[in-house]
Amino acid sequence: MSRLVVVSNRIADPRKTAAGGLAVALAEVLNNTGGVWFGWSGKIVDHSEIDEVHVEQAGPVKLVMVDLSQADHDAFYLGYSNGVLWPVFHYRLDLADFDAGYISGYRRVNQLFARKLLPFLRSDDIIWVHDYHLIPLAAELRALGCKQRIGFFLHIPLPPPLILAAIPGHDWLIRALFAYDLVGFQSRTDLEHFARYVESEAHAQPLDDNRWRAFGRTVHAGAYPIGIDVEEFTGLAHGPEALEMYERMKREYSRRKLLVGVDRLDYSKGLPQRMRAFREFLTKNPDLRSSATLIQIASPSRENVSAYTDILHELESLCGSINGNFGDLDWMPVRYIHRTVARARLPGLYRASRVALVTPLRDGMNLVAKEFLAAQEAEDPGVLVLSRFAGAAEQLKEALLVNPYDTEGTATAIQLALQMPVEERRHRHQALMRTVREYDVHWWCDTFLAALAEAKAEEKGTS
Ligand code: G6P
Repeated sequence: MSRLVVVSNRIADPRKTAAGGLAVALAEVLNNTGGVWFGWSGKIVDHSEIDEVHVEQAGPVKLVMVDLSQADHDAFYLGYSNGVLWPVFHYRLDLADFDAGYISGYRRVNQLFARKLLPFLRSDDIIWVHDYHLIPLAAELRALGCKQRIGFFLHIPLPPPLILAAIPGHDWLIRALFAYDLVGFQSRTDLEHFARYVESEAHAQPLDDNRWRAFGRTVHAGAYPIGIDVEEFTGLAHGPEALEMYERMKREYSRRKLLVGVDRLDYSKGLPQRMRAFREFLTKNPDLRSSATLIQIASPSRENVSAYTDILHELESLCGSINGNFGDLDWMPVRYIHRTVARARLPGLYRASRVALVTPLRDGMNLVAKEFLAAQEAEDPGVLVLSRFAGAAEQLKEALLVNPYDTEGTATAIQLALQMPVEERRHRHQALMRTVREYDVHWWCDTFLAALAEAKAEEKGTS
């Protein structure tokens, strides 16, 4: 059987509980299959030390890590990846910083990754590259003679062609996708955007079966919505840390219903809009007011990118004014926590909450929505309020779907969620859990890798 080589910018020790969506999912996959995980060590070093590669065996997984110089980190990670691609792919042209110097750093780091990965590869490896930091990696590997199967998965949304076309050098970027054998997206909407872009901007020829031909290569593309490991998460839910958290929340908030939000502090997550909707709910429902508390965990993220500092200040000021205007001596409507909460404790918090607010302005998928559902008690489950602009909304139809820009509509959904009778909550939860279970992380990985194996076989057959 071929060995799996996963490449992503952010990597984590799969023996430990990782914090973020991408790292958690990849750790799950690799723990099952074994193989190699290649990525950035998280370290920034002097230019002279850069040639070193760190290798560590973590259970069945070999971790191979490279360091970055300060200049490369700034241009590649802060600059091009998070100052250009992240905002534009989340439809936020207004926040993009199109500094001409960033793209060469982006290219340089992709070349460095290709050069450093190459000596570790075997001829029958399957290479699976993840996310927007590494779009040109396959093209760089092919330039070094790499013939292996290479797949790419984009964890974030792909915007419509005219938004994508605002990126200087967008044609180079999308052309680079044709060096892969298979390109995967989170949703059918993202796949449609890809099809429209390559046909209109790159004049690619559409073939059958979601294949496109351009630049002398055929690329397959598909929608493979990422899921969670339900067993792993329910296992965590029965662990001591989650149980302790659950008991504590139940004690502390015995007279209140909890609403919960757990996000990286990112402008794509719609946190100020969520606070405004909650404020609207408090204003419109004086009778329900003091029986609800919103716990918002916003873990620090990418603090050296200026758009992230702006959102922090806006959120702090909104939470402060809501608490100042509505709070009482014995009740604060919002508990805002600007810290990362250990993943092992989260199921306890989710289980103690009546409502989850997952209301991003744009999101590739959003695994908090799925984890919240998996942590609920089947007899007395909580309600998911979900943005229609999260990739998860294509699958989780029985959630209360909202438009996060519509303050009144979201406030009404909060009220409905808090007052929803238990039969309806059970009914919706059962239906949602069927989807969460069916399209779990194993389905995601198996379906993508099977399609990648097939894509390569066809390519061989036709050449
Ligand atoms: C999102 C991205 C990932 C990224 C994660 C954390 O989930 O899709 O690629 O790793 O955020 O962000 P960070 O910048 O800390 O890696």
